[in-house]
Amino acid sequence: MSLQKLIDGIAPSVIPLISEGRVADYIPALACVDAQQFGMAIHTVDGQTHHTGQSNTGFSIQSISKVLTLTLAIEHHGRALWQRVGLEPSGDPFNSLVQLEHKRGVPRNPLINAGAILVADALLDAYDDPIDALLTLIEQQTGTRPKLDLEVAASEKETGFRNEAMANLMKSFGNLQHPVEQVLDVYFRQCSIVLSCEELACVFAFLANDGKQAGTEHTVVSARRARRINALMLTCGTYDRAGEFAFEVGLPAKSGVGGGIAAIVPGKMALCAWSPALSASGNSVAATEALRLFAERANCSVF
Ligand code: DON
Repeated sequence: MSLQKLIDGIAPSVIPLISEGRVADYIPALACVDAQQFGMAIHTVDGQTHHTGQSNTGFSIQSISKVLTLTLAIEHHGRALWQRVGLEPSGDPFNSLVQLEHKRGVPRNPLINAGAILVADALLDAYDDPIDALLTLIEQQTGTRPKLDLEVAASEKETGFRNEAMANLMKSFGNLQHPVEQVLDVYFRQCSIVLSCEELACVFAFLANDGKQAGTEHTVVSARRARRINALMLTCGTYDRAGEFAFEVGLPAKSGVGGGIAAIVPGKMALCAWSPALSASGNSVAATEALRLFAERANCSVF
């Protein structure tokens, strides 16, 4: 079956599941997003694209941005980054503070909130303007400079008490170099970037292509680093559901509370599925099922 037929067949199976989830309302500006939306896109390593549903609608990428800031931070800091952030799944919700105290301000991994806030701090050492660097990385892949939704960023700033607590805890242990407010400003703005499924599949395609931009010879990261980023996505990218996601879907993936999930089929393609209603773990219900059906029908689990 062609990839296009395959994804066209997925929407009718997953749309009924939207009512089982809830749009993220802990960020007030996200609470008003219409839950009844679904899109999916594929970008293959040789640059072919396929899409279905509302694949061209922009949404708040939220935690999906953590993979891209990590990519920039690894490029700049190399192994030294792992002195400041761990490589282990947390088994706790994405915004949990519990392990941060036990680990003396060292987050379990770079894809939970605490880890991404640490990575934002590391990027402030590397770049005068980390958001500009992040937008440039995205633009190099898609050809379009994405927009920030500053209303979403401001909404998070007003209500981001847990993120502020994490940043302060890391600062108290000496693991943040820059002022908490400056670090959180980077973090909230990176989360507020707006991209569509089609754009996200395009941006993530280098991780399916040994670190090279899809359809080109341009190296974004080395093949070794791309493998390692994929390993972190598989083990930590869907928070305390990473085990179940590996069990059911079997692909490296990163979710965000905007309802998007970007996934990698190594050597073949990047995918993005989006639908705003989330399960209790913060992963989109319909997008998770869409990726599960895709991996099953295309027989492309990494296991
Ligand atoms: O910091 C937060 O809570 C959000 N900006 C991002 C969380 C997120 O996307 C977790 N995803 N499932």
